[in-house]
Amino acid sequence: MQNPSAVAALFQRIAPHYDRMNRLMTLGQDRKWRRYAVKRLLPYQPKRLLDLAAGTGDFAREASLLLPSVEAIYLVDRVPEMLALAPPKKPNRSGLEWHFHVADAHQLPFPASYFDAITVGYGVRNFANRLQALREMNRVLRPGGIALVLETGLPTHPLWKTLFWLYFRFYVPFLGALFARDKAAYTYLPESTAAFPHREAFLYLCQQAGFVPGSYKLFWGGASILYELHKQA
Ligand SMILES: C[S@@+](CC[C@H](N)C(=O)[O-])C[C@H]1O[C@@H](n2cnc3c(N)ncnc32)[C@H](O)[C@@H]1O
Repeated sequence: MQNPSAVAALFQRIAPHYDRMNRLMTLGQDRKWRRYAVKRLLPYQPKRLLDLAAGTGDFAREASLLLPSVEAIYLVDRVPEMLALAPPKKPNRSGLEWHFHVADAHQLPFPASYFDAITVGYGVRNFANRLQALREMNRVLRPGGIALVLETGLPTHPLWKTLFWLYFRFYVPFLGALFARDKAAYTYLPESTAAFPHREAFLYLCQQAGFVPGSYKLFWGGASILYELHKQA
């Protein structure tokens, strides 16, 4: 379990460096992973979309560009410094509404069944009580709605696992020290990833929160994982 104040303070500190560090750590692949995820939403034609733990709004931005059906995007994050860097508050497409909420994932300020779709990019790992936050996601999603959770993971192939862990545990904190002047924040990343339930274990947690059995897709052999969750129609 995470300490909510420490997590908030961490994202407050790294907000100005967040986007650049993501590009550096993933060699720009994180954008492709979000784009792949958003395209999964196309057949569902969502109108009202929640980007939870939205941070600097990368998921919301891709959704605004790739999903013509979307009429309103709600960006929710606990840390105003992250949200302040999210896309322009003016609609970038005629008729598209942007809503910004500083709020906690454990207690969302929306009525039940409000959203057609939810995206969460690298957020769930940071929640203090994941089961409660997943239940909240399930509550605000409409029956038949879809939620996409993109999270860090760990490869299982022995060679790739070792190489990746060296990269993640030593090189990423080095990048953090160099470019964000914050080694501790980028040491938290591999540590919180190692402590996070991956793959089937995470899907089981989602089922406990009320979602129907979900599925996942691996990127970089499991270093990043896209979970697809549905609420019973
Ligand atoms: C790693 S960033 C992800 C940002 C963005 N979704 C992305 O894909 O890059 C995690 C975000 O989760 C937010 N967060 C952490 N705990 C939260 C909570 N309990 N409720 C809402 N947001 C939270 C942090 O403030 C931070 O902006």
